[in-house]
Amino acid sequence: MPIIDFHAHILPGADHGSDSSKTSLAQLALLRAAGVDAVVATPHFYPHMHSMQSFLEHRARCAERLVRHLTPAYPTAFVGAEVLACEGLEHMEGLEHLAVKGTRTLLLELPFSGWGHGLVETVLQIREHGFTPVLAHVDRYPRASIEEFLHEGILAQLNAELFAHPLRLRAYRRWIENGAVVALGSDLHKAPKNGHRPFQKMCAKLGPEADRIFARTAELLEGAVPLTPTEAPQKEEALVLT
Ligand SMILES: [Fe+2]
Repeated sequence: MPIIDFHAHILPGADHGSDSSKTSLAQLALLRAAGVDAVVATPHFYPHMHSMQSFLEHRARCAERLVRHLTPAYPTAFVGAEVLACEGLEHMEGLEHLAVKGTRTLLLELPFSGWGHGLVETVLQIREHGFTPVLAHVDRYPRASIEEFLHEGILAQLNAELFAHPLRLRAYRRWIENGAVVALGSDLHKAPKNGHRPFQKMCAKLGPEADRIFARTAELLEGAVPLTPTEAPQKEEALVLT
């Protein structure tokens, strides 16, 4: 079963996750060291700050910067977005462009300052419109608030950092066991020393459950279009990783 990082900020210059191709390649090397076979690049999309067109153009330029250096030695990279959910998002023109390219799978980040039932309705409407919304890092929010979405069958992603805290992890076991968790993410920002360890640890702790989750992720990525590696990476970037 391919090991898939569903949530990572690895596009150079796309957001605060990576400031350069050099950083992005170091991030991909970390993910490779963690055993990751495929990663979804999910730059932040803030509906109150970004226009769809400027975001898509900027993201395309950032992806182009990265793709020049990709080789088959790196994990396969897909492009999506981490979209901040807000009421009315279901009406946003061009929302399909924020799904993982080639799919209708949409990573949604909930606000940290709380929300009303209207936001649940929004996410359900998005699903009605043929998307498969996945809630990003549900481990970061009050569990009762997330339950409102999960009761409706909305899907969830967990961050690797959760697995460093055994007591906290216990609280999320049920969501893993009942199939609500369909994706795992490094949520990698920058390229910290030993940055491969959290993802590695998560896979080790989950054991066979990780494979079940990755199988669900693979289904969500069916038809996804990867960034295509080039035959000859630029030498100076390749040297960084040796
Ligand atoms: Fe993120």
